[in-house]
Amino acid sequence: MNSSNKILTEKFINENTPIQAISGLLIKNAGVKLLVKREDLNNQYISGNKWYKLKYNLFEAKKNGFDTLLTFGGAYSNHIYATAAAGKIFGFKTIGIIRGEEHLPLNPTLGFAAKCGMNFYYLDRKSYRQKYNVELLNKLRKKFGEFYMIPEGGTNAFAVKGVKEFISKINVQYDYICCPCGTGGTLAGIIKGTNKEKQVLGFSVLKGGDFLRKNVEDLIGEKEYAKSKNWDINPDYHFGGYAKINSRLIDFIDRFAKENNISLEPIYTGKMFYGIYDLVLKGHFKKGETILAIHTGGLQGLEGMKEKIKRIKVSKVIN
Ligand SMILES: Cc1ncc(COP(=O)(O)O)c(C=O)c1O
Repeated sequence: MNSSNKILTEKFINENTPIQAISGLLIKNAGVKLLVKREDLNNQYISGNKWYKLKYNLFEAKKNGFDTLLTFGGAYSNHIYATAAAGKIFGFKTIGIIRGEEHLPLNPTLGFAAKCGMNFYYLDRKSYRQKYNVELLNKLRKKFGEFYMIPEGGTNAFAVKGVKEFISKINVQYDYICCPCGTGGTLAGIIKGTNKEKQVLGFSVLKGGDFLRKNVEDLIGEKEYAKSKNWDINPDYHFGGYAKINSRLIDFIDRFAKENNISLEPIYTGKMFYGIYDLVLKGHFKKGETILAIHTGGLQGLEGMKEKIKRIKVSKVIN
């Protein structure tokens, strides 16, 4: 990292967030220790894994003289939100290629991104599936000029490098390390950043995650880690698929926040912690073992889920 990157990073990002021990009867009775690495506190806007996934992409863009970042995501994407904020903080123009049609007024995620100066370009769902198509990228270059492209979710080799570096600096003892998985970039970085005596457990937030394992193996690259038996992806806590939620999950998140003073959102971290608690209950972890869960941030997503959460709570009261 060169010195100007270091100064900017230290000014805006807390790379030394606390590790919080979770108490509570379930954890105590099981005889395990649950620790949370509070990456939700590293930066309000580029929170959690988003910072570590963007970090080396930002440095790379700067090093190669790009003044514009272009990336992809859904209308409620944490990654779009974080990239817009990173552009504002680190001095890049930003372009967000958004899946689906434009809806006005903009939702809270895109409203924030627009305030940070992000320009949007909407793609219908079919075209979005072809988003890395050369013709489309050329068309975007004609429209916006040269840009540094960051893939959907920020996942690429630079993201894996950033997460690996972050994980390798954690100096607390643990047996298991857990994270929620979307594209698998964060999990790949964690696998590369831990030594192989630790168990790494990803919780898929999407249904039908076979592709995810392959993705993670590809992102890891080195066969020694990709084929290692010390990591796994749990497919049992997606609650029906991406952004699907129910009253059990919402109750859990509310209780968790009250007991531990830690906010979760229902798309990623809520599902992971629900999964960890359920596995503790089922005796998956041995007495005396320590589980380290990475809070991957993304709390901005709560705003976009507010109405859905309210409807679930109301229907629970009525029924
Ligand atoms: C808050 C949060 N946690 C976890 C993830 C999953 O990260 P990955 O896509 O690297 O698997 C995301 C993905 O965007 C996220 O926003």
